[in-house]
Amino acid sequence: MHSPLHQLKRLGTVAGLGLFLFNVMPLASAADAATPIPKMRKNDVTPIPDYMKPVSAHAPFQDGDCSLCHQRKDAKDPGPINKQINLLCLDCHDDFVKILARKSSHEPARINCVSCHSPHNSMYPHLLVEDPGTLCLSCHTSISNLVANASVKHDALTTGAKCANCHNPHGANVQHLLNKLPYDLCVGCHGVDGVKDHDGKTLTNMKQLLADNLHQHGPVESKDCSACHLPHGGDHFRLLTKDYPATFYSPYDPKLYDLCFDCHEESMVKDAKTTTLTKFRNGDQNLHFVHVNKDERGRTCRACHEVHASKQPHQIRDAVPYGHTGYLLKVNFTKTDTGGQCAETCHVTRSYTNVIVPLIPPTVVATNAPAK
Ligand code: HEC
Ligand code: HEC
Ligand code: HEC
Ligand code: HEC
Ligand code: HEC
Ligand code: HEC
Ligand code: HEC
Ligand code: HEC
Ligand code: HEC
Repeated sequence: MHSPLHQLKRLGTVAGLGLFLFNVMPLASAADAATPIPKMRKNDVTPIPDYMKPVSAHAPFQDGDCSLCHQRKDAKDPGPINKQINLLCLDCHDDFVKILARKSSHEPARINCVSCHSPHNSMYPHLLVEDPGTLCLSCHTSISNLVANASVKHDALTTGAKCANCHNPHGANVQHLLNKLPYDLCVGCHGVDGVKDHDGKTLTNMKQLLADNLHQHGPVESKDCSACHLPHGGDHFRLLTKDYPATFYSPYDPKLYDLCFDCHEESMVKDAKTTTLTKFRNGDQNLHFVHVNKDERGRTCRACHEVHASKQPHQIRDAVPYGHTGYLLKVNFTKTDTGGQCAETCHVTRSYTNVIVPLIPPTVVATNAPAK
């Protein structure tokens, strides 16, 4: 059973993918507005002499026939090039005509391939004019600032093909030059065992988690990992878009739950008594309030909920990492028709019922039986 949608503040993700593809995040940050991203640049692409041992060389340049692109065959004085640069490149690389016509294409590639590639040879792979680790950042200064200042960094940007792990530098059929839908990119790397964070903690294999746990959280079901995570780095625990406590216990402060309360109603944990704000209540006693809303050892949502996917309904988790060693403490939740029950571990078995029995005036029966 799902809670009614009207309890959600932000409905965007429910509609899912369609919305994501065409209406994601504010694109231009303040820094972009201040320093516009250069659409192209003029690089020094003078051929590098052999003794410097260039790492990559362009086949037509290797052939020595400068006139394939320049006016003359003479290597000492080849003269100007025959055509506008991109027309020249696309003559031979005609497959790039289609790539640049994809839904999302990269402005510098449309304008000038030599913004990133040397037509001759280079000290970097793929004829790149700069180290692949800095090439993108040298134009994208706002991302560069973000990466430099982020307290939580994402190794996805620095391992393997770096930015090209997720982006196609030329053109792609997914918005923002993405190689695949974000969900497929994320699960691609996070679908294996043994990925470790910077503290050495092994990260959940998300593909396995999603396969084993069929109750997926709304935005996960909509395949929208970006609803909660930033791809490039950030300042919140686990690259989250907003605040969420990192620990099992935390003194209650609604600001710490900005992430959840962006979509869910904060009132759910605010009032001690309620018959409407949550189904996690015993009669009118709000059990979300009881567990979460404490000045000292308030339990954070993770004490009971697994935010990606769970076997139990309502994203209730089977077990929760507890204490310094993170051993698994069983939650032992059972859903019942009128509420639920949690057995032994956090506390003795307790059950709650959220069905309000309407008050019917008791029928007065005359009786002589002695009062008990
Ligand atoms: C695949 C095409 C291609 C081939 C082959 C080629 N060039 Fe070039 N060359 C270019 C382009 C494109 C430019 C850049 C023009 C610009 O930026 O305005 C260039 C620029 C140059 C420059 C000027 C560098 C600069 O930074 O302004 C020199 C020198 C040069 N080429 C030498 C050669 C020599 C020598 C050969 C043959 C051994 C050769 N090129 C073969 C495409 C080519
Ligand atoms: C005369 C034909 C021709 C022209 C013109 C040409 N290329 Fe190429 N290019 C080639 C060939 C051939 C290869 C090698 C292809 C292969 O190995 O599959 C190549 C390979 C490349 C590579 C891959 C290098 C690598 O190591 O992965 C890049 C990048 C490249 N070209 C960029 C350019 C750019 C930029 C221009 C325009 C300035 C250009 N090419 C113009 C024929 C051409
Ligand atoms: C914004 C920088 C940038 C621009 C502009 C750019 N490229 Fe590339 N290109 C790259 C990078 C980065 C790679 C290496 C990709 C990787 O590691 O997977 C690459 C790889 C290539 C390759 C070899 C691998 C492949 O995908 O086939 C070719 C060929 C190529 N580019 C051609 C071009 C042509 C033609 C243009 C102009 C239409 C162009 N590039 C413009 C950054 C750029
Ligand atoms: C020569 C400068 C330059 C370089 C180098 C460069 N970019 Fe860009 N990039 C641009 C410009 C200009 C835009 C368009 C900005 C805009 O949308 O206003 C852009 C846009 C983008 C976008 C957004 C596309 C969209 O549709 O939202 C992505 C993603 C991107 N670049 C990734 C990269 C990656 C990855 C690299 C390295 C392979 C790279 N850029 C290298 C200039 C550059
Ligand atoms: C793990 C995958 C991943 C990697 C690696 C990655 N990006 Fe992105 N990038 C994304 C996603 C997803 C978006 C879509 C916007 C969003 O959800 O924030 C995006 C959006 C962008 C945009 C357009 C929106 C914006 O924030 O300005 C640019 C530019 C960009 N990336 C550049 C880069 C550069 C440069 C690198 C390498 C330093 C890089 N990205 C590495 C996933 C990635
Ligand atoms: C190219 C592989 C790759 C891709 C693609 C990728 N990741 Fe990662 N991610 C990693 C690696 C490696 C780590 C562990 C090291 C670290 O923390 O950066 C990691 C760490 C993380 C962490 C934990 C960060 C921390 O330190 O607390 C989160 C959360 C995360 N990724 C989410 C995502 C999301 C969401 C996406 C899709 C937008 C994604 N990842 C795509 C490789 C990747
Ligand atoms: C509704 C928000 C939300 C969505 C959507 C979401 N995540 Fe998360 N993610 C979180 C939160 C919160 C945490 C921290 C969980 C904790 O420590 O209890 C987290 C943690 C992670 C971690 C670290 C896991 C670990 O073992 O500690 C990875 C990796 C991750 N998410 C990847 C993803 C991927 C991939 C997707 C898309 C399939 C995704 N997330 C979608 C909120 C979300
Ligand atoms: C981007 C929006 C979004 C964010 C952020 C978000 N949620 Fe959700 N949540 C949803 C949607 C959509 C549903 C599915 C609604 C439904 O099924 O009625 C849902 C459902 C749930 C459910 C199950 C409700 C039920 O009765 O089955 C729980 C529990 C939950 N969220 C907890 C959290 C927690 C904890 C956080 C913060 C870590 C969080 N959510 C952050 C959108 C979000
Ligand atoms: C002590 C365990 C526990 C904690 C801590 C907890 N929840 Fe719940 N939550 C539950 C249970 C059990 C349900 C299922 C209620 C039912 O339908 O029977 C639930 C239901 C929900 C629902 C569905 C709507 C509703 O209220 O009935 C949402 C949304 C939700 N929780 C969000 C959160 C958020 C956000 C936090 C952290 C601020 C949190 N929960 C902390 C146990 C907990």
